[in-house]
Amino acid sequence: MCGIVGYVGEVGLGERSVEVLLGGLKRLEYRGYDSAGVAVIDADGRLDSRKKAGKLKMLIDDLEATPLVDGRTGIGHTRWATHGGPTDSNAHPHLADDGRLALIHNGIIENFSELKAELVSEGVEFQSETDSEVAAHLVARAYRAGGGDLAEALRMVVNTLHGAFTLLVVHADQPGLVVGARRNSPLVVGLGDGENFMGSDVAAFIAHTRRAMSIGQDQLVSIRPDSVEVVDFEGRPVETTEFEVDWDASAADKGGWSSFMAKEISEEPEAVANTLLGRAVDGAVTLTDLDGVREQLLTVDRVIVIACGTAAYAGILGKYAIEQWARIPVEVELAHEFRYRDPVLDARTLVVSISQSGETMDTLMAVKYAREQGAQVLSICNTQGSTIPRESDAVIYTHAGPEVAVASTKAFVAQGTALFLLGLHLATLRGTLTAEQIAEQVTDLQAIPEKITRVLESSDRIRTLAGWMADTRSVLFLGRHVGYPIALEGALKLKELAYIHAEGFAAGELKHGPIALIEPGQIVFVIVPSPRDPRSLHPKVVSNIQEIRARGARVIAIAEEGDAAVLPFADEVLHIPLAAPLFESLLAVVPLHIFGMELAAAKGLDVDQPRNLAKSVTVE
Ligand code: F6R
Repeated sequence: MCGIVGYVGEVGLGERSVEVLLGGLKRLEYRGYDSAGVAVIDADGRLDSRKKAGKLKMLIDDLEATPLVDGRTGIGHTRWATHGGPTDSNAHPHLADDGRLALIHNGIIENFSELKAELVSEGVEFQSETDSEVAAHLVARAYRAGGGDLAEALRMVVNTLHGAFTLLVVHADQPGLVVGARRNSPLVVGLGDGENFMGSDVAAFIAHTRRAMSIGQDQLVSIRPDSVEVVDFEGRPVETTEFEVDWDASAADKGGWSSFMAKEISEEPEAVANTLLGRAVDGAVTLTDLDGVREQLLTVDRVIVIACGTAAYAGILGKYAIEQWARIPVEVELAHEFRYRDPVLDARTLVVSISQSGETMDTLMAVKYAREQGAQVLSICNTQGSTIPRESDAVIYTHAGPEVAVASTKAFVAQGTALFLLGLHLATLRGTLTAEQIAEQVTDLQAIPEKITRVLESSDRIRTLAGWMADTRSVLFLGRHVGYPIALEGALKLKELAYIHAEGFAAGELKHGPIALIEPGQIVFVIVPSPRDPRSLHPKVVSNIQEIRARGARVIAIAEEGDAAVLPFADEVLHIPLAAPLFESLLAVVPLHIFGMELAAAKGLDVDQPRNLAKSVTVE
């Protein structure tokens, strides 16, 4: 949840650690934004630090007014509060009692109370209410006791901690060294020329280098200007592999848009197209990403999709596609429910995890659990160098590019696309669709990016609609078949972005309860299936519209172009181009993403950083 950055540079690159750290924090601010801080060591071994509650801007303004000493070594942090409120003193870095060591932390140290009690009984005075400060004091003590080996001191301490953590430390005696350690929390190294970096994700250093190295579970890394050394928590050297980040700094900028979210919604066509690239060719689907698990994919008899939030709604699209095309039963489950309910898994179970960040703790833990139980785990992920792909048997990367706005938009359509590809791949392997049927689906899927572009052209109309509804207190969303997860997604976006009570329902469920909520003026979005839908769901949903309209609801229908049947009953109709029934979902979701964003903007809210939320939920 928090953003972490570390930097060391050689003499020739100048004293610029504050600038590098703040630049990294700006790109990581989406991970946590209730406070921020930096600590820097200058060439004379002076440690200076500053931290401020509030958004990063507060810290930047403060540093402009009173600059820190600068140097070539430092660490920086943006916080999403867990233990202790968002105050200056709870912000990171935390200094050890001798003031010579600074530490930043992402995660939760579960045994911090016992450790703190021990330190307090030994006379340590705590400056904050955080769990993290404990680690600062412990590492400083181990450093003094061990004769000044910072990496060894951190290694001793991490072996006494329970929970999830990425820790970065610097010590005034050691200009030119940053040491990091991780367990169940992200850490990536950036490899520069005469300088090296650490970050919670590659965005921290993408402005300086695209060469990166991910750090594995229970590993510790020491970076110096000219070296990177990785050991495990036992102190044994670890082999590492580099990777090249496939996007650059400009991809992580707003590029002239009013918000990252506006930019990311505009990138939805590209997110789908890039996810299809090289995988849907000549009317066939080729997922070479899955070559290593081909035999297992042939024998699985059950699929369980695990994910959280928006990614779980994309998972429902996967269920409908895989069941229809590959005839394998699919369950979709929230990752945090899955791992605590003792699910029955074996080698014939394929667990598909979905995560934009690749770091969501609940999903990661569910992945690990599933593998321990003998299931095959395939992950759909958008972030290179993240943890979930490393813990999986195979991975399909979505190529949506960096998603910075906290609420997910373009990642959703990319995840849906990857699941459709997976469904067609399974159908190809298992022979449940003919080559012609697959070719037909592939052609339809390839047309989706251009159709999303057409939906985006109606943004102005949706903005006007959202402007009218700025005072709305409750909105309901109804959908059937793939319209159901889209209704859930529309409601979630509205809650997150505009802080409006919103619920998504399966339209068929309406008469089983939710219809009681309908009163005059209640706004209801209805995702209307195509009149061409072979299941004849269209007339049923049109009946639902009539039922709620009769009770005074104001209906906004999202319907296929040319669908005349909804016109007499809806107050507004937002049209989407014609598409195959499953793929309509990728079109219908777009107006809802725009609506959530525009309604939040109409209320004057920050659409990129909604209150209380963090981009990747790396704690339970
Ligand atoms: C909603 C949203 C969240 C994420 C969820 C999973 O807009 O962004 O619901 O979808 O926290 O995150 P990832 O996909 O990173 O695992």
